[in-house]
Amino acid sequence: MYKDIRAAVMGSINMDIILNMKKVPDVGENVLGTDYGYACGGKGANQATGLARLGAQTKMIGKVADDANGRKLIENLNKNGIDSSCVKDDGSQTGMAAIIVDGEGRNRIIVYEGANAEIDPKEAADCIDENIDVLLVQFETTEDVVVECVNRAIAQNITTVIDCGPAKNFNLERMQGATIISPNENETEALSGIFPADEKSILEASKIIMQRSKAKYVVLKLGSRGCSVWDGENLKIIPPYKSKVVDTTAAGDSFTAALALEYKKSGDIYTACDMGNKAGSIAVSRMGAESSMATVEDLANFHENN
Ligand code: RIB
Repeated sequence: MYKDIRAAVMGSINMDIILNMKKVPDVGENVLGTDYGYACGGKGANQATGLARLGAQTKMIGKVADDANGRKLIENLNKNGIDSSCVKDDGSQTGMAAIIVDGEGRNRIIVYEGANAEIDPKEAADCIDENIDVLLVQFETTEDVVVECVNRAIAQNITTVIDCGPAKNFNLERMQGATIISPNENETEALSGIFPADEKSILEASKIIMQRSKAKYVVLKLGSRGCSVWDGENLKIIPPYKSKVVDTTAAGDSFTAALALEYKKSGDIYTACDMGNKAGSIAVSRMGAESSMATVEDLANFHENN
């Protein structure tokens, strides 16, 4: 589907421990879980897997430690056909995420950054060269490494897609002129001070984020409301697809991978958002993070209520 596209992701690589339960505990409360498991994750690695499953030639830039989880995560990247030559394994401890999922598929995530916070900005940016068509980054590594990589990509006219997770008031002024910047609802509030509750607040928040980042497009991920596009002149809401929600973890990662590839292929932001909505809707219908990323076949055979 996107096999001619050469994509790179600079971002986090985590081992996820996922616990399922009917209801998450209140402070001081104990609850029984229904099951648990370990899975390969991290916003960066999930997006890299999403790109590879959609057929793109994919390179991962990041860091793990030379420990059991780190070795497993690199092996998993290789198994997915992802070039891991820019993943260093000299971190202090591999990143870890504890994810609790309630009976309605809603998650809460605690991330221990470990090696993800130790990526050297110059070393990472040196992996971005003329062999890359599109770069994806998120905010689960340090601000310095994100800024260095995005600016290096912009300087080489590489299409640059910034996923703003997890929520933080990132200094967007340090990287001006990316192609697409894409926060979810909470991330939008962290970056603009406005929760995108309705069309008016979606527009106000998008304007602030565009003003701060000078990105070409601001794409807000609005969960069950789909997504919005602000191009500096027009605001458009791209409606969602209905889906049976099992676990929302990594739905944004699946969305971002499909958005980036379809935009690179067609140059049409609205078609790209629609593709992102499809990939996100597939991800929420499945348990897990990386395991729920949409494949070429999923998108080709896509139908609502999956
Ligand atoms: O976006 C989902 C991801 O967030 C999980 O895989 C977890 O590792 C955290 O980084």
